[in-house]
Amino acid sequence: MKRIAVLTSGGDAPGMNAALRAVVRGALYNKMEVCGIYHGFEGLIDGEIEQFGMSSVSDIIHRGGTVLGTARSKRFMEKEGFKTAVKNLKGNGIDGLVVIGGDGSFRGALTLLRADVAVIGVPGTIDNDLGYTDYTIGFDTAVNTVVELCGNIRDTSVSHGRATVMEVMGRHCGDIALHAGLAAGAESILIPEKKLDLDAVCRKMLAGKSRGKLHSLIMKAEGVEMGTAELAQELEKRTGIPTKTVVPGYIQRGGSPTFFDRNLATRLGYRAVSLLKDGQRGRCVGIHENRIMDVDIEDAIDSKNPSRESMLELADILS
Ligand code: F6P
Repeated sequence: MKRIAVLTSGGDAPGMNAALRAVVRGALYNKMEVCGIYHGFEGLIDGEIEQFGMSSVSDIIHRGGTVLGTARSKRFMEKEGFKTAVKNLKGNGIDGLVVIGGDGSFRGALTLLRADVAVIGVPGTIDNDLGYTDYTIGFDTAVNTVVELCGNIRDTSVSHGRATVMEVMGRHCGDIALHAGLAAGAESILIPEKKLDLDAVCRKMLAGKSRGKLHSLIMKAEGVEMGTAELAQELEKRTGIPTKTVVPGYIQRGGSPTFFDRNLATRLGYRAVSLLKDGQRGRCVGIHENRIMDVDIEDAIDSKNPSRESMLELADILS
């Protein structure tokens, strides 16, 4: 392995820069040349490829977002775009590619693997929706951001005796809602993996009120079947408790990464480079029981998150 490249793809996630830094400096340490590709697979098609040195990744470990830029590329899924992408890799003498992103990006990487490109996936997404790894890069920061916002909401909700429905990111995976909800002491946590039980949410709100509780927090993932505004209206109608909505949206995706995300990204990025150096391909790196590991890319894409039932139960018991 002489010359590798790295790109970030899909939704950005805090810690992607730390992963990029580890890939670039790890490659240089192992005597490989390394290129950064801007704007994900889009930039690969457009030839936005630049050779990196040690200082190309200076002063980024603490920054959210991705200095490489990112994209969700439609062109890459089409025959012409894909062909150009492969041609640009070969034309630049690139033997291996590290793809930092979520499941969509891993699918893109898999198509490159099938075209004989040595790819390695690094899980970068705030959603934590790749079941083979206990954590994805960016998840911890996003959850901490949401938990902090919950404190602000609690202050004003208590003052006014209101309930709040907070909608957090996660179209198919409720991990942000679940982890932030448990940490913030939410009365109810609603995730797409579990059928919505409106009666149970109302019961919790009313039980809290009857023991003198001044506010309720209902933490809801965006993928839950009922819309957030509609849910708030329905809860207010059924309980008589004024209910507001909060949608932090992209605020959750930005911000300086936590120590956890920086270190996870650093360890995963370095493992990705080590795999390429050892001649491995088609692997995705992750963390399981605090050990850095790697799995076959197809298994990574197919992996399902473990059941979160016991965490939901715990949140229910304690709220
Ligand atoms: O994949 C991360 C994520 O932030 C999801 O939680 C969210 O549903 C989606 O990206 C939003 O994507 P976009 O940036 O395309 O609006």
